[in-house]
Amino acid sequence: MTAAGGPVAPLPPTLVWCGGERGHLEVLDQTRLPHERRVLRLRSAGDVVEAIRSLVVRGAPAIGVAAAYGLVLGLQSQVEEGAFVERARLVAARLAAARPTAVNLQWALDRCLAAVDREPCLAAVWREACAVHADDVAASRRIAAHGAPLVRDGATVLTHCNTGRLATAGEGTALGILFAAWRAGRRFRVLADETRPLLQGARLTALELGAAGIPVQVVVDAAAPGLIARGAVDLVLVGADRIARNGDFANKVGTYGLALASAAHGVPFHVAAPASTFDLTLAEGRSIPIEERDADEVLQLAGQSVAAPGIPARNPAFDVTPGRLVASFVTDRGVLTAPFDVAFKTALGSGR
Ligand code: MRU
Repeated sequence: MTAAGGPVAPLPPTLVWCGGERGHLEVLDQTRLPHERRVLRLRSAGDVVEAIRSLVVRGAPAIGVAAAYGLVLGLQSQVEEGAFVERARLVAARLAAARPTAVNLQWALDRCLAAVDREPCLAAVWREACAVHADDVAASRRIAAHGAPLVRDGATVLTHCNTGRLATAGEGTALGILFAAWRAGRRFRVLADETRPLLQGARLTALELGAAGIPVQVVVDAAAPGLIARGAVDLVLVGADRIARNGDFANKVGTYGLALASAAHGVPFHVAAPASTFDLTLAEGRSIPIEERDADEVLQLAGQSVAAPGIPARNPAFDVTPGRLVASFVTDRGVLTAPFDVAFKTALGSGR
């Protein structure tokens, strides 16, 4: 188990905008973690699309912030007066298509497009992108404050994928709660699902928790339901990529199985997410678009083929968990419990 003060060098920031409206975006290449810290300089909307697609930058809130800055980059070249709004819409559509499931991407772009409608100039888009960034930092902080009391002294917490500072502009959603609880003096341990196929749990979550001195053990995804059944887990805490009106939500593939096991064995299952992850235009989870990724991500492990040549694979990157399996949504607007449609409307309004 990684314990306090382990030999983990501090990570560069997940994403930083350098300069003013004509600046550029720097992102930490998460595909190289935990073994290499490589910072990439992104100078065009196309660079940002590629970084989002390839998971150089990932996690629902972080890709929203990256997309907002991507729009700024896409509008830096000279555009004839009058064509600015049209170009903004085109660039935003390209960015939004980079990954389909996390609604934060579209949400951030919609905010920037609304700024363009109000004031069609680069400075206005850049100011809005900076505001999207700052709001995400603040949302992480509020989620952590609302959620920290859920984590009791002596508890074992199970989490899935990565929901920390690598997934947001702030300290994270589910992991942000753990960091806050730890700072408040609570002592607990974490089981981090490795999160096949791309191992965000083993590579990223374990790294972040280890750096914070929080005891963490990586478990294979398939071990988690059995550990829940044996009473080895007190609390399951995950993030989300899109939440529908009835509380159904999409998150990294494997989340649904955790929720089923938690419900079967009476373990509380909580979801942490900012308001930007709610899509109240969707009545239920079956309307959430699920990203299907390249089969090679399943068929290879650390660059090595694991199946015989020619064997196909299916690679849905997310699954949908029914709201009835969720104890609460820990949001920047408070802890929301069932009936979710009513709670969401009260806390988030009819939009987001
Ligand atoms: O494919 P990824 O790594 O972007 O998936 C990330 C997740 O599923 C996270 O749980 C989710 O985005 C919440 S991040 C705070």
